[in-house]
Amino acid sequence: MRGLALLIELALVAGTLGKVTTVRKTGTKPTGYEVDFVFTPNSTTHASSVLLGGFPFFSESLHASLSKTDGYSPYEWGSNMFSMRMTPDYGNEAGTLSGLEMKRNEKTGDWEVTVPLPSGTWLYAYYPNCTTGNWRNCDVAIVDPSNLPIEAFPGDQSLSAIQLPFDPTFQVNDYSWQLPLQDASKEGMSASIDTHHQGQPIHIQVNIHDVGIYLPNEYGKIRNKKYPVLYLSNGGQGSDSDWFQQAQIHNIVDRLINTGELEPTILVTLNWYDLGFTLEEYQTNATLQAEYLDVVGYARFFNRVRENLFSYLMPWVDENYEVSNSSSHRAFGGLALGGTLTYAMLFNATDYFSSYCVMSPTPAPDGGDGQYNASFNPDLRNVGILTGAGFYDTTFDAARNWETTLAEQNVTYLSHYAMNGAHQWSTWQEIAYIYLREALWKPVPYGRKTSLKQFNSLPLIDF
Ligand SMILES: *[C@@H]1O[C@H](CO)[C@@H](O)[C@H](O)[C@H]1NC(C)=O
Ligand SMILES: *[C@@H]1O[C@H](CO)[C@@H](O)[C@H](O)[C@H]1NC(C)=O
Ligand SMILES: *[C@@H]1O[C@H](CO)[C@@H](O)[C@H](O)[C@H]1NC(C)=O
Ligand SMILES: *[C@@H]1O[C@H](CO)[C@@H](O)[C@H](O)[C@H]1NC(C)=O
Ligand SMILES: *[C@@H]1O[C@H](CO)[C@@H](O)[C@H](O)[C@H]1NC(C)=O
Ligand SMILES: *[C@@H]1O[C@H](CO)[C@@H](O)[C@H](O)[C@H]1NC(C)=O
Ligand SMILES: *[C@@H]1O[C@H](CO)[C@@H](O)[C@H](O)[C@H]1NC(C)=O
Repeated sequence: MRGLALLIELALVAGTLGKVTTVRKTGTKPTGYEVDFVFTPNSTTHASSVLLGGFPFFSESLHASLSKTDGYSPYEWGSNMFSMRMTPDYGNEAGTLSGLEMKRNEKTGDWEVTVPLPSGTWLYAYYPNCTTGNWRNCDVAIVDPSNLPIEAFPGDQSLSAIQLPFDPTFQVNDYSWQLPLQDASKEGMSASIDTHHQGQPIHIQVNIHDVGIYLPNEYGKIRNKKYPVLYLSNGGQGSDSDWFQQAQIHNIVDRLINTGELEPTILVTLNWYDLGFTLEEYQTNATLQAEYLDVVGYARFFNRVRENLFSYLMPWVDENYEVSNSSSHRAFGGLALGGTLTYAMLFNATDYFSSYCVMSPTPAPDGGDGQYNASFNPDLRNVGILTGAGFYDTTFDAARNWETTLAEQNVTYLSHYAMNGAHQWSTWQEIAYIYLREALWKPVPYGRKTSLKQFNSLPLIDF
């Protein structure tokens, strides 16, 4: 039923009987699958060329570093390659951010290109009249009219998403844990309870912000059952729909609940824009230190965000959903600037949540920052912490340094570094997946109790 409704909707937006973007199994090199991307321009889009862009090109480990990638195109893909986003201020950005020229189909007026892609989630948009070859430099980006993003309002998300299955004949890394369950009747209710955004997570206004909610499939079917809640924060320039659109987190959670690896859990994705104060106002007082930004300005900003969430969002969630009000059933996670917000929660709301997932934190508190002081805040030793970043992530050093500080404070933690990732959504999908599967709602604190002293006394290995 839902599938049918979706097809009709797609046909309507794409124009009657128009072609839509589809995934096709080829059983041939390089990946075993191809995507037929189709852009049907509307009556006012008079493009003389269209570039397909959005996902970074590929690298393999020999040619990848924080400042280097060869930027292989999908046609050159090999099973040892991964899509790697180069951050603009490091190295050869163009190597990863090239686009692919689409061809005009003279019969239909559509723009088309066929692209082989491996398993996982691919974010893309169409860039008309962009001649630079690098989609980042294009003036206009149009999401796929045949595959609209999950978003709170049109324009909230700038990229469409398409997901591909795994083919073991051609591929090594299986990312099909990101794909929707085959049986749609087992999906969570983010997909069906809001009439305005049918087939999409619901978005509601709380104290002027949108918020995204995911409810597990069984929600509402078991009398008096209370559910644990995971709050997830976006990063800088992001929004509450990022986790759904860019990470397809509802699919990841659906699958883990379905296999019994995760207890049915409610997700709340927040938004810290339009709070009446801006990050920039707080940044004015932040100064550059040797390596990291001074976090005083940020700490102030994120403490204001924290206060706002406690005044509005948390009480609203508690009132409107069947949630457990025990801190052992509340968790908080976030990426990048949202990773720093997770610090603000960890250090300043320590026992309100039992579990924290800090992903690619930036900027990170200095190692010597008194916030880490577990003698001052012993509860830091009682909560569950999982931390990590991408191996080619600009925040890699910061993520590791704070682990050292935790160890010095005898605070235990788990960590996961996405080996095939930089500062990009595939990294946060993977860390979140590991966190949900291996850590969330498991006994806290996480990890073997290892003090730095014990660590230092481990025998050294000669190479
Ligand atoms: C055509 O598409 C463009 C870009 O998405 C949009 O700005 C414009 O409003 C659309 N025009 C019509 C008539 O739908
Ligand atoms: C693309 O360029 C053509 C001229 O070559 C122009 O007529 C058209 O308005 C442009 N379209 C967009 C979307 O900028
Ligand atoms: C920046 O610092 C000045 C001087 O300490 C202070 O008056 C001002 O309130 C600070 N601004 C912000 C946004 O924190
Ligand atoms: C949790 O809920 C119970 C029952 O509604 C209430 O008595 C208690 O005060 C609540 N605890 C917190 C920490 O909100
Ligand atoms: C940590 O807190 C203890 C007790 O309050 C204090 O003696 C110590 O100086 C603090 N250390 C740091 C690095 O702030
Ligand atoms: C905790 O928050 C209060 C106000 O919200 C702030 O004054 C204090 O500095 C914060 N502490 C830390 C460790 O961030
Ligand atoms: C960490 O644990 C070790 C071993 O028990 C102890 O010697 C050390 O003082 C502890 N460090 C802190 C900061 O509590």
